[in-house]
Parts: sequence; structure tokens; C-alpha cells
Amino acid sequence: MTQTKTNTNEKETNRKKEDTHMRAIVYHTYGSPDVLKLEEVQKPVPQDDEVLVHVHAASVNAADWHLLRGTPFLARFVNGLQKPKNTKLGADVAGRVEAVGRNVTQFQGGDEVFGCIPLHELGSLAEYVCAHEEALALKPAKMTFEQAAAVPVAAFTALQGLRDKGQIKLGQKVLVNGASGGVGTAAVQIAKAFGTEVTGVCSTRNVDMVRSIGADHLIDYTQEDFTQNGQRYDLIFDAVGNRSVSDCKRALTPTGICAVAGFTTLSHLFHVIVLGAWVSRTGRKKIGLMETAKPNKKDLLFIKDLLEAGKVVPVIDRRYSLREVPEAIRYLEEGHAKGKVVITVAT
Ligand SMILES: NC(=O)c1ccc[n+]([C@@H]2O[C@H](COP(=O)([O-])OP(=O)(O)OC[C@H]3O[C@@H](n4cnc5c(N)ncnc54)[C@H](OP(=O)(O)O)[C@@H]3O)[C@@H](O)[C@H]2O)c1
Repeated sequence: MTQTKTNTNEKETNRKKEDTHMRAIVYHTYGSPDVLKLEEVQKPVPQDDEVLVHVHAASVNAADWHLLRGTPFLARFVNGLQKPKNTKLGADVAGRVEAVGRNVTQFQGGDEVFGCIPLHELGSLAEYVCAHEEALALKPAKMTFEQAAAVPVAAFTALQGLRDKGQIKLGQKVLVNGASGGVGTAAVQIAKAFGTEVTGVCSTRNVDMVRSIGADHLIDYTQEDFTQNGQRYDLIFDAVGNRSVSDCKRALTPTGICAVAGFTTLSHLFHVIVLGAWVSRTGRKKIGLMETAKPNKKDLLFIKDLLEAGKVVPVIDRRYSLREVPEAIRYLEEGHAKGKVVITVAT
């Protein structure tokens, strides 16, 4: 009798804890993926204009490991100089609406959604996350949560790099450097959706995959240098950030634009900013770093349309569990992902 009562009390305590607590990946100091812990933390409570999402899947991005390591040092201006203010990571999310704030009009409990948590509020590497309703859209019905979680940051970056920085136009010749990565696979498909002729630059092992997502031409960077083969492009979208400004300039048509999304070293980043600005000011070719992609509802809905039309199909490389996030980030940091690295949180 006493034992039964104890068990009932324990169950009741656990149930209450489930209501108020959740598991999340957290970090309390800057460092390698070794400092990440799977901890029990307070479940977030949605503000009036927020939605509480039960996370089914998330995906990892370069921003996660830059913020985790606090490198380059500029990353610490986003999240604290000495130690991280926001101890959670994860921007991309797909899941089910658990609760809504009282001013939320676009979603209700049970809706399947996907979207992107802004950089200063990351937290999708957890069982639950709160997001402003403007950060979310209904998940395309035919997509899995994992597919949907693989999309937002990569697609925002590709779309805003190609369209806003790159001024992409119908019929142009577009080259995507780093065509096999998370951002690159989105860029190849989005550039095709804009009606352009796309050349993808990738290594031998990824040629078939990049062709399968629609690239018209392939350049295997282990065999050929796209800046030295005499070809010229109206738009270069660089998702690697390993080429000099003069190399990119050579590969552009006389009024061509090079939008650089990635960087390999800090000195290369400054090289692109400074020399790119010089080239852009003194000639008709434009070369420059794109801004950090800005999540917004209009672009999310545009991307959703591309997903529903089958014009963008997410490429998923590997799947990890929430507990395996350190391993997932270690893999991403190696810089050879073949599409996106997804975290499966709930099934
Ligand atoms: N501005 C923004 O808002 C923003 C947002 C997201 C990401 N980014 C930046 O964009 C870059 C790409 O991100 P990501 O998520 O796509 O990275 P990722 O998924 O790790 O992809 C890296 C890809 O680059 C390829 N690669 C490596 N060296 C190459 C080379 N020399 N030539 C051509 N391809 C090469 C790799 O293919 P192989 O294995 O075949 O080498 C791999 O597929 C990162 O620098 C990231 O910081 C910027």
C-alpha cells in the first residue's frame, strides 16, 4: 500500500517535471564541442507573440560552432565577451506547436511548423523552443520534420546571397563554389529556380549528387580551377570563401557580381572585405561579402513555395540524436558535409 502510494507520488512528480522541464544542449564556457552538455533545463514559456514548438528536428550550421567556440572573436559580441549569455544553440527547427502566446494569430496547438530562430536567441537544439510567430511557417505537408529542419538557414543564405547581393537574373550564367555543402546545395537549386544556367564546383565524390540537384555543368575542384579555365560568369556565389579577389575578378563577366557567403580564415575575410570594396568601387565588377542572412517571414514563405513545387529538395548528409550534437558539430566543422547535418529530436 505504502509502496503503491510512493510510486504514484513519484509518477506525479515526474509528470510535473515534464511540464516544466526539458532536455537541451547547453554550453557554459566557450570551447570545442567537448564543452557541450545535454542538461535538464527549464522549459521555455512563450511570450505573447511567441509560439512554443515541440522540436522534432533541428539542423546545425556554421553559426553554431562559431558561437560555441567564440571564434572569430567577433562572435562574442553577439553572445558575451567572457562567457556565453545564451547557453543554447540551434537556429533551424521543425516541430509541432505545443502552445501559443495570447497575441499569436497565425498558429494553433498541433500545427506542424518550420523556421529559424534568430542568432541572438538560438535554442532549437532542445526538446522545446520558443519562436516569434513571424519566424515560422507551416511545414510543407509532404516533407518530413528532418527535411524541413534542413532548410531555413541554408536557404535564407543562398536566397539572400543570390538575389540581394548577387542581383540574380533570368538566363544568367551562375557559378556556385562549394556546391555540395548545406548552403551550396540550396544555392544550386535556388539559382536554377531563377532560370539560370548553373555551374557547380565540388570535389570528385560529390559530382553526381550536385548534378542530381540540377547543376547544368560541374567543375571538380580537385581537377580544375574555375578561375583559370577561361570561363566567365555573370554571378559567382561563393559558399567556401577560399578564393582571392583577383581570382574571382578574373572569372567574372565585365559587369559580373561575386557574392561571398563563407570564409576560411579571418585574414581571408578581411581580404575580401577590403580588396572587394576596392574592386567594386573602381570598376564595373562587384565583389563582396554578403551580410549574415536575415531570417524573415516573406523569404520563408518564398522558400516554402519552392519546397512545395519540388524546386528545392533538401539534401541530408547525416542524422544525429540530441545527445550526439557534439559529434554532429565536430563533423560539420571538418568542412566536408554533403548537404545538411540534421538532429533528430523527437520521432
Ligand atoms: N552569411 C551567412 O549568413 C552564412 C550562413 C550560413 C553559412 N555561411 C557560411 O557559408 C559557408 C558554407 O556553409 P555550409 O553550411 O554550406 O558549409 P558545409 O555544409 O560545411 O559545406 C562545406 C562544403 O564545401 C565544400 N568544399 C570544401 N572545400 C572546397 C573547395 N576548395 N572548393 C569547393 N568546395 C569545397 C565541401 O565539399 P568537399 O567535401 O567535396 O570538399 C562541403 O560540401 C561557411 O563558411 C559558413 O560560415 C554564411
